[in-house]
Parts: sequence; C-alpha cells; structure tokens
Amino acid sequence: MNRIFSGVRPSGKIHLGNYLGALKKWVELQDDKQTESIIYAVVDYHGITTPFDPKEYKMQIMEAALDFLSVGVNPEKSLLIRQSHVPQHTELAWIFNTITPVSWLERLPNYKEKLASSPKYNHMGLLDYPVLMAADILLYKSNAVPVGEDQKPHIDITNEIAKKFNSMFGETFEPVKPIFTEAARIMSLQEPSKKMSKTGDDGIALTDDPDAIREKIKRAVTDSGSEIIYDSKNKPAISNLLMIYHVLSGKSLEDLTEQYQNKNYSQFKNDLAEIVVGYLEPIQKRRKEFSGDMDAVEKILTNSEKKAIDMASATLAGVKAKMGLL
Ligand code: TYM
Repeated sequence: MNRIFSGVRPSGKIHLGNYLGALKKWVELQDDKQTESIIYAVVDYHGITTPFDPKEYKMQIMEAALDFLSVGVNPEKSLLIRQSHVPQHTELAWIFNTITPVSWLERLPNYKEKLASSPKYNHMGLLDYPVLMAADILLYKSNAVPVGEDQKPHIDITNEIAKKFNSMFGETFEPVKPIFTEAARIMSLQEPSKKMSKTGDDGIALTDDPDAIREKIKRAVTDSGSEIIYDSKNKPAISNLLMIYHVLSGKSLEDLTEQYQNKNYSQFKNDLAEIVVGYLEPIQKRRKEFSGDMDAVEKILTNSEKKAIDMASATLAGVKAKMGLL
C-alpha cells in the first residue's frame, strides 16, 4: 500500500509544469486502490531558501493552498498542510543533519543550479534543503512521492538518509519511490532546453486568464522546420507543446501528429491555446469559489495539520527512542 507525501514551494505561481508533473497525479492518487494515506504540503520552509518577500509570503502560501484545492485535492481524502505549522518536520531534519555527509548535498544538481541563480543565498538552508525534504517524507513513513523528474536526486538522497538511519539505529524507514507522470519534465515555452519554472514568463500559471494563455502560446518558440512531430531530442520546442496538448486533450501523440500533418504552427498553436484555456476554466472557477471563503480554507489546513502532528509525533517518538533521546 502507498503512503503518499508531496509538496510544492509557495514561491511564485503554480504553473502547468507543476500541474502536469505533479499535481495532476496527486489528484489521481486519491482514487487509487493502492493508496493508504495522503499528505500534500505547502512547503513554506523550503520556500524561504531562495529570495522571497515577507510582506507577500503569507498570501502566497494561501494561494498555493487554493491551487491545491482548485485542481481537485480533496480534504476528505488528503491532508493539506503548511510545513511550518507541523514543527516535527524541522525537528526530524535536525536529527537527519547529524547523519548526512555534507558531500552528498554539495554535489546535487538542484543545489548547484539554485546557487548559480542566487549566489547571495549560499547559506546553510539552501545546502540543507534536501535533508528537510527527506524529513518531510519520512516523518509520515511515506513510501511513494509523486513529483516531477527534477526531484529524482532528492528522492535518492532521502533513500540514502533512510538507509543510513536504519543501519545506525535499527530498521525504521522503508524505501521511498518517486511516482512520475509521462509529462515529468515540461519545458519553458521560451527556452525549451530549460524546465518550465515559477519565475519569469516562460510558463503558463494555472491562474492565467485566457488572453494571457493565448498570447504566451502564440509567442512560444518553435523549432526549425515546419513539421509537427514528437521528437524531443531534435524538436524540443514542438515536442513540449505536443506533450502539453496530448496530456490535456487525452489525444495520443500519434493522432495529434496525423491531425496536424498538413497544418502550420500557427493553426496548431491556436488549437493548443483553446485546449489549455478550456482545461483550466473549471479549475479557475473552483478557485474563485474557494477564494470567496478563505476562513474555510484556513480551517481545512488547521484540521489537517492537527492530524499530521499526531502522525508526525508518533514517528518522531520512535526515532528518538531508538537514539536514546527519550
Ligand atoms: P517545486 O515547488 O519546485 O515543484 C513542485 C512540483 O512540481 C514539479 N515540477 C515540474 N514537473 C514537470 N515539469 C516541470 N517543469 C516542473 N517544475 C516543477 C516538481 O518536480 C515538484 O514535484 N523540492 C520540492 C518541494 C518539496 C517536496 C518535498 C516534494 C519539498 N519537500 C517532499 C516532494 C516531497 C520542490 O521544490 O518542488
């Protein structure tokens, strides 16, 4: 049986990459017979490891929670928490800090990338990011984590930390597996060699209005040659757009290739824009409904956090007992 945990940083607007790589799967897993428990977190402590505005931050955290609810995370099936409201996350992270070699963290690609983009943020928190992530997952004895492909190195470190803990203090944590979607790496619309990210104008936010979506897709870069075929190596831009089209429309890549055989990029993009607009419409409608009652959203979070604290305390007590801390 799967015990699921996953999270999103509230740093910027949640975009189609986050949705197709992770959140869409989050929602599907709620109805999977193999699912035993689910916790989805706004990982606000991870969000402060890169530049953020304290005046905006509280709102951004709530916006992320709204996004979770609007895509279909159901509080009757999943716990929806703010990481910083369950203090056991950082407590377990501290314990893991004492068994994690610094060299494991220094070689991680995500760390190197973030450091390159914000050199002033070369602090302990950025380096330690994956240890907190391992604590997020293992705190609930989770064994399955739906994430995009970029998180694979973090899941690997989580398993290394779990193994090391088990070998030092006795069998405690099970191996953790990542769950990937077929769209586990959605690329930027402007630079298809880079993944779609929360910063800049290279992605479509779940909250973008129809005209913004049409404009962004119209301006999306394409590859040389006019053929509309899926070939991620030689035609990364059009393959990325085809993948988005495929997942949101349910049409196979082969059918799409046939449909656009004698059509040009502009016809393809117009159709794709309407597919995206149509797909996001009910999500945006639900978001509006939820945002009209933020007290109810707050209540969902605090109720979930209470239950999460109970689960987390049980794991932490076991960990501490094994270490002679109780
Ligand atoms: P974050 O906030 O960067 O992204 C949230 C989720 O979206 C996925 N994702 C993508 N998938 C496909 N294509 C893309 N272009 C794309 N961009 C982002 C990410 O892989 C992720 O699944 N470290 C995590 C947050 C985290 C976490 C955790 C996740 C903290 N603790 C524990 C799982 C379990 C992160 O920064 O995600």
